[in-house]
Amino acid sequence: MSKKDKMLEAFNFVIFGGDGDLAMRKIYPALFCRFAEQQIGGDFNIVVIIRDEMPIEPLLEKIKEQITVADKKIDFNSEVVADFISKITVILIKNHSIKTYQPLKNILQEHSNYQDVFYFSTPSSVFVEICDTLRESSIVNTTSKVVLEKPLGNSLASFEEINTQITKTFSEKQIYRIDHYLGKETVQNLMVLRFSNHLFERSWDSEHIDNVQITVAENLGVGTRGGYYDKSGALLDMVQNHLLQLLCLVAMEPPISVEADQMRNEKLKVLQSLRMLNAESVKTDTVRGQYTRGKINKTKVSSYLEDINKYASNTETFVALKAYVDNWRWKGVPFYLRTGKRLEQRYSEIVINFKSVKHNIFNPETTVPNNKLIIRLQPEERISIVQMTKIPGPGGYRYKPISLKLDYLDSFNERLPEAYERLLIDVLRGNQTLFMREDELRAAWTWIESITDNWKKIKQPIDLYEAGTTGPRDSVMSNGDTWEIHS
Ligand code: BG6
Repeated sequence: MSKKDKMLEAFNFVIFGGDGDLAMRKIYPALFCRFAEQQIGGDFNIVVIIRDEMPIEPLLEKIKEQITVADKKIDFNSEVVADFISKITVILIKNHSIKTYQPLKNILQEHSNYQDVFYFSTPSSVFVEICDTLRESSIVNTTSKVVLEKPLGNSLASFEEINTQITKTFSEKQIYRIDHYLGKETVQNLMVLRFSNHLFERSWDSEHIDNVQITVAENLGVGTRGGYYDKSGALLDMVQNHLLQLLCLVAMEPPISVEADQMRNEKLKVLQSLRMLNAESVKTDTVRGQYTRGKINKTKVSSYLEDINKYASNTETFVALKAYVDNWRWKGVPFYLRTGKRLEQRYSEIVINFKSVKHNIFNPETTVPNNKLIIRLQPEERISIVQMTKIPGPGGYRYKPISLKLDYLDSFNERLPEAYERLLIDVLRGNQTLFMREDELRAAWTWIESITDNWKKIKQPIDLYEAGTTGPRDSVMSNGDTWEIHS
């Protein structure tokens, strides 16, 4: 099949919040990389919606800068860049009304045979207004698609409110709720690892697995996003979406196929099986932390309060918790979820801790260390199996854990596309497999609220931790459980 055959149908791509950080860092580079690699053909328009008046040339220049540093492995030249930039039209929409949407309508009508994708890269508080105005302006048709950035609300009630309003304009089949973790190559590899290898799938249950640890550690602070972050915190910013989606992929039953609803049905069951926390279990099984000043890679960094320019805040920048999936397969297996900002290093990892062998024939008084499957998602992509191995020598049966490592880069030369590239292409193709369905979000919010409600109820304190460390309380929960720190 030639590249041309694989090209996608023509489209208009409308980005609300088109001058924002996400659009600059992720959306334009992703579209550009797919264009430079000729997966997207020449028939498309990018409509950038901005809210504040600004000169257009510097804006286009900024987009150009962002796309040209996007990926060194992409073979592009200035002609390709100029071609891409020529597809962009910028429209100023200060407020939402039929009148202010007219220029947008005109552009879309010029290419009425193209499919329309509306990307809402704005706070979810304006999603409803945008949707309503698109509908009232008769801009949306049955083939239009809408892409919604997280977070969708900040509670179950606000999610329901926004969702109900959006579904007045777009049907579920037209809605693409993004969780960019699902677009990561290594996250998709989790599916292949689990469901294409007999070796693992046969021992993937509470009979064989002692616990699962999912860590997404960041060494960056909140940067310029303090305004948003201080209203959400680590639980809503990371656990409600990314970590729960990773948990789903680890815990779900094999779907019949990778068709969108088959996958989402299985993920939903996991979310619905999560054991609710109560006033007692949030106290013992969750930790909230906030970073103070410290050093990252020998460089001094400021505290969270300094970053957000406030004297006090009850927002957590670190959260660790113990979850249970109460179903046949996972009964009694703790899933430890942990994430935080300004930690010692940036890494995302899933550790499957298998049970130890039942009896140690080499020394019945001791327990043999357990096998581990370590799935490293970033920054390097790697899978390691930790197994016991005899230490060579005549001194009897001495053994130690040794890692067998599969490094992606050693096995594949291909460039690993950014998560947004895969996701945006899936939107254009109409494939919803890697996007969240409304009932998944409802279930996730319901569980998250069992934590937030009880945190409020018992006034769960915040533990301070120094930036550049592994988190508060040396990562020990008050129930005595500890985290394994891998590096
Ligand atoms: C975003 C969060 O969804 O994910 C950020 O809002 C976080 O706070 C980011 O930094 C992490 O994504 P990644 O791909 O860098 O692990």
